[in-house]
Amino acid sequence: MLRESVRALAEAKIAPFAAAVDEEARFPQEAHDALVANDLHAVHVPESYGGAGADALATVIVIEEVARVCASSSLIPAVNKLGSLPVILSGSEELKKKYMTPLAKGDGMFSYCLSEPDAGSDAAGMKTKAVRDGDYWVLNGVKRWITNAGVSEYYTVMAVTDPEKRSKGISAFVVEKSDPGVSFGAPEKKLGIKGSPTREVYLDNVRIPADRMIGAEGTGFATAMKTLDHTRITIAAQALGIAQGALDYAKGYVQERKQFGKPIADFQGVQFMLADMAMKIEAARQLTYAAAAKSERGDKDLTFQGAAAKCFASDVAMEVTTDAVQLLGGYGYTRDYPVERMMRDAKITQIYEGTNQIQRIVMARNLP
Ligand code: CAA
Repeated sequence: MLRESVRALAEAKIAPFAAAVDEEARFPQEAHDALVANDLHAVHVPESYGGAGADALATVIVIEEVARVCASSSLIPAVNKLGSLPVILSGSEELKKKYMTPLAKGDGMFSYCLSEPDAGSDAAGMKTKAVRDGDYWVLNGVKRWITNAGVSEYYTVMAVTDPEKRSKGISAFVVEKSDPGVSFGAPEKKLGIKGSPTREVYLDNVRIPADRMIGAEGTGFATAMKTLDHTRITIAAQALGIAQGALDYAKGYVQERKQFGKPIADFQGVQFMLADMAMKIEAARQLTYAAAAKSERGDKDLTFQGAAAKCFASDVAMEVTTDAVQLLGGYGYTRDYPVERMMRDAKITQIYEGTNQIQRIVMARNLP
């Protein structure tokens, strides 16, 4: 039921704008409004804070169905979860109430600020500092590649509070867009997910009350990693949705397109490609849903499974969207058809929330 209703909504209210959002590299406001109106913008927020209380699998299905028509729009529910999960996992009850309530209402989105210009894969090498000043912390630094920066109202920011201790000297904070000293860089000019703004976040003597720290001092890196264990699965869902969208489009196209006097779907070479695409998508789906169930239960092997699902599903998305372009031939290579957008959008899923090379490091360190 959930899948059917999200699919109907996505096709009616999100798909019609997907090409324009990509072409104009603009925020998918129509998608945002439709998601908020249907309580699908941050489904993971527990009911006790006014949220929909969706479990990890339901959240995955929402993201998958939105990504099937517009990857940029799927970053609204996905990054709302990524940005807010540190608070849900490690924050005080006051912090949860304060920030999950407006998020659930649709009054403010959440972003996640881990990466920096010189700290991508090596997240613990960050330079952003937070220095205690009485009842306040003062933050200084630059965060880079921040999804939905500028649009989001709230930011989970990881910063160094004790430079001697590397990962154990990092703490997490909630920073608000309206905090004096917060500003944003120019939107990055990207290959895909053009509707989702990616900008730098500048923190210039941002003075925030001490109770905005998420969890205890020094636990920010562990919180950031625990968060990714859960949310890499949402990126797997996004990848899965993009791949399914490309397969669905190609499946229709090959039945319409005639060459040598018959639909190209009648040729075995085309059939084999479609079969492989569907097989890989189904494998990615099973892995992703199993990982979502593990996320919900908090299973011990979640770290491995989350990384595996993200890595596998994103590689599948890249293969399947590339094959979809191939099936459409010259037409597939033009912006008159959606599959080239899907191929460009798929690429980021192999890169963000940890490159697929990092996923392999994570898997190797956590072999089942
Ligand atoms: N759960 C809980 N704690 C964890 C953990 C996990 N999964 N992984 C690590 N930790 C903690 C541990 O306490 C560990 O300390 P111990 O020695 O006591 O075990 C501490 O963190 C340090 O861990 P490592 O020694 O493994 O740290 P490392 O420096 O070797 O880095 C890494 C590990 C896996 C490479 C990590 O840096 C990483 O994941 N890098 C990729 C960063 C990333 O994914 N960035 C994505 C940005 S968000 C994004 O892209 C969002 C978007 O736009 C949509």
